[in-house]
Amino acid sequence: MTDKAEAAKRLAAARALELVKPGMKLGLGTGSTAAHFVALLGEKVAQGLQVVGVPTSERTREQAEKLHIPLSTLDETPQLDLTIDGADEFDPQLRLIKGGGAALLREKIVAAASTRMVVVTDRSKQVAMLGKFPLPVEVDRFGLESTRLHVIAAGKAHGCSGEVKLRRTADDHVLVTDGGHAILDCFFGALPDADGLALALNVIPGVVEHGLFIGLAKAVIVADEAGVEVIGDLA
Ligand code: A5P
Repeated sequence: MTDKAEAAKRLAAARALELVKPGMKLGLGTGSTAAHFVALLGEKVAQGLQVVGVPTSERTREQAEKLHIPLSTLDETPQLDLTIDGADEFDPQLRLIKGGGAALLREKIVAAASTRMVVVTDRSKQVAMLGKFPLPVEVDRFGLESTRLHVIAAGKAHGCSGEVKLRRTADDHVLVTDGGHAILDCFFGALPDADGLALALNVIPGVVEHGLFIGLAKAVIVADEAGVEVIGDLA
């Protein structure tokens, strides 16, 4: 990742921080852009800001704990005011692909528990049609190959073809998510019917969740060298 991309991510995160008000219950996203937000939030907490956060991954929990951001769970705090999270792609309808960092299940549960989800990204994530980024699908490890075939069939029924691969770690083990599941990455290319595909994936036994976030993001804060653009409604 270039310095320019990191600077853009930090700029988007800084704009998102302006949305945070004292007493808010916050969903804390996962990934490099969300990490900038958590870092900036930590600075504000050190200066006396009172908020409570619900992390979307163990990684984010560790970062927030180090920064002494007060944390909660959705069991204790089931309704959140605002979630700030990154995305792997977003389209003009603010539909997202997420899960590049394998946190999509908790990310979607936390986003759905929030009055507002605002996405922070650099410009590289903006697409006219979703699908350049391989779509992550979180699956139970039981019956993986059968589930993979169902996922391929669901893709075909919604105009997509391409490989569906089990995600592995850098040291070549099957990646296991925070929830104990595996991830199938769908190299479908453009998704001509993302809404239909999302529904079809939802009903496959063995699919725990998929990385299509539809109707969840209220706004995207996208930054580049020229500055920050807000797409959607921050209110
Ligand atoms: C984590 O599972 C993902 O959904 C991330 O939010 C997404 O990958 C964006 O990450 P970056 O901000 O690192 O690009």
